[in-house]
Amino acid sequence: MKKIAVIGTGYVGLVTGVALAEVGHTVTCIDIDEEKVKQLQAGHSPIYEAGLEDMLSKNISNKRLFNTTSYEEGCRNADAIYVAVGTPENADGTADLRFVEAVVRELAEVLQEETVLVTKSTVPVGTNDWMQSLMASLTDVPVHAVSNPEFLKEGTALKDAFNGDRIVIGSDHGPAGELVEEINRPFGIPVYHTDIRSAEMIKYAANAFLATKISYINEIANLCELLGANVEDVADGMGMDPRIGRSFLNAGIGYGGSCFPKDTKALVNMADQAGHNFGILDEVVLVNRKQRLKLFEKAKHRLGSLKGKNIAVLGLSFKPNTDDMREAASLAIIEELILAGATVTAFDPIAMPNAKDILPEAIYYADSSNEALQHADAAFLLTEWDEITSLPLTDIKQLMASPILFDGRNCYDPDEAERIGIEYYSIGRQD
Ligand code: UGA
Repeated sequence: MKKIAVIGTGYVGLVTGVALAEVGHTVTCIDIDEEKVKQLQAGHSPIYEAGLEDMLSKNISNKRLFNTTSYEEGCRNADAIYVAVGTPENADGTADLRFVEAVVRELAEVLQEETVLVTKSTVPVGTNDWMQSLMASLTDVPVHAVSNPEFLKEGTALKDAFNGDRIVIGSDHGPAGELVEEINRPFGIPVYHTDIRSAEMIKYAANAFLATKISYINEIANLCELLGANVEDVADGMGMDPRIGRSFLNAGIGYGGSCFPKDTKALVNMADQAGHNFGILDEVVLVNRKQRLKLFEKAKHRLGSLKGKNIAVLGLSFKPNTDDMREAASLAIIEELILAGATVTAFDPIAMPNAKDILPEAIYYADSSNEALQHADAAFLLTEWDEITSLPLTDIKQLMASPILFDGRNCYDPDEAERIGIEYYSIGRQD
C-alpha cells in the first residue's frame, strides 16, 4: 500500500482521498481552507454525498486518512501526489488554471525527492506538460506528471469510485503510469493506458459527448411537441439500439452542474485556440441555454401575466441526491419568475441552504413539497428527487389553489394527470 497526498478537498479530491484510504492506502488530504480542514479532521464532510461522511470518519479513526493545511506535512515521503483542485470557468469560457498553478508553485517549495504528480482535476489538453515544465523551472527535483481524469457523478460519487467503468491513466513515463495502476489495483476497475494529452482529451470528449446527447434529445423533444410525437417513447425506441443506448436521453430543462456547462465551453475554447471551429458544440451550449427557459415560456403562454401569482417550485439542485446548486436550471427559471412578478415558494430536500446563498432574497422556502404547494396557482417540478416525484397527483391537486403543473423532468404520466384533473405540461410530449 502507498502513501498518497491529495491536494484539494472538493468533490473529486475528497471522494478520491476517502476511497484510496478505504482500500488501504495512507492518505493525507491537503486544503488551504482552514475551516474545511478542521471540519474534515472532526470527520464531517463539507459536501452532501451518500455514505461519504461515514467512510471519512471510519478512515480517520483507522489512521489511514489525515487532513492538513500543510503541503510539507502532507507531501512528506508521498509516493504520489494527487492534484484535485478546481478548474472553474473564466469569463471568456476558458478554464481558469489559477489553482493548478498555485499547487505547482507550493509543491516546488516543499518537494525533496523525485515524485509522481497525478492530475485528477479536469484540465485543458497540454496542461500536464505545462505543469511539468513550470515545475522544472522552479525545482531540480524530478516530477513525472500523470493525467488520471475523474469520471464520478455527483450523488453517486462513492459508488462510482468503487464501480467505475474505467480508470484512464495518461503518462509519458512508464514507471509513473505503472505506479498509478498499482495504486488503483484494489478497485478492480479496468485500466486504460494512453499518453498524457489523450487522457486529458478523453475527459472533455466524454463530458461534451454526454452534453451533446442531452441537447440532442432536448431538440428532438421540442420537435416532438410540434409534430405530435412523444419524446419518452422516441428515446426508448432509439435507446434499444446498443450503439445509441437509452441513458442520457432524458429530455428536460437542460444539463447543469459543475461539469458539463464548464467543460463544453472549455472545449469550444480549446478548439478556437487551436484554430478549429467546433460548431457542433457551440450549438449544444446554445440549445442548453434556451432549453432552461422552455418550461417558463410554457407557463407564460398558459398563464399570461405571472404578476402576483403564487408559484411553487419543487426541487432546486441541478439534479437529485446532491445539494449542489451550480448551474442548476432552477436558477434561471426562478430568476425569470421573479422578474415576471411571481411570488415563489421553493422546496428542496437538501439544497435549500446552498440555494439561499445564491437565489434572490425575495423567495420563500417551505419545509416540505406539500407546504410549497399549498394555495399555489401553479407548480414547477425542477429536480426529480424521489421524495418529490413520489407525491401522489391527487395530493398535488388537493393542495393547490389551481392545479397546474409544469414538469421539467417528465415525472408523471400526462393521461393520469388529466384523469385526476391536473392541468399538466411537460417536455416533448402531447400533454
Ligand atoms: C458529469 C458526468 O456524468 C461525470 O461522468 C463526470 O465525471 C462529471 O460530470 C465531472 O466532470 O466531474 P455530474 O455533473 O455529476 O457528472 O452530473 P450528471 O449526472 O452527468 O448530470 C448532469 C446534468 O445533466 C444534470 O443537470 C442532469 O439533470 C442532466 N441530465 C442528465 C439530463 O438533463 N438528461 C439526462 O438524460 C441526463
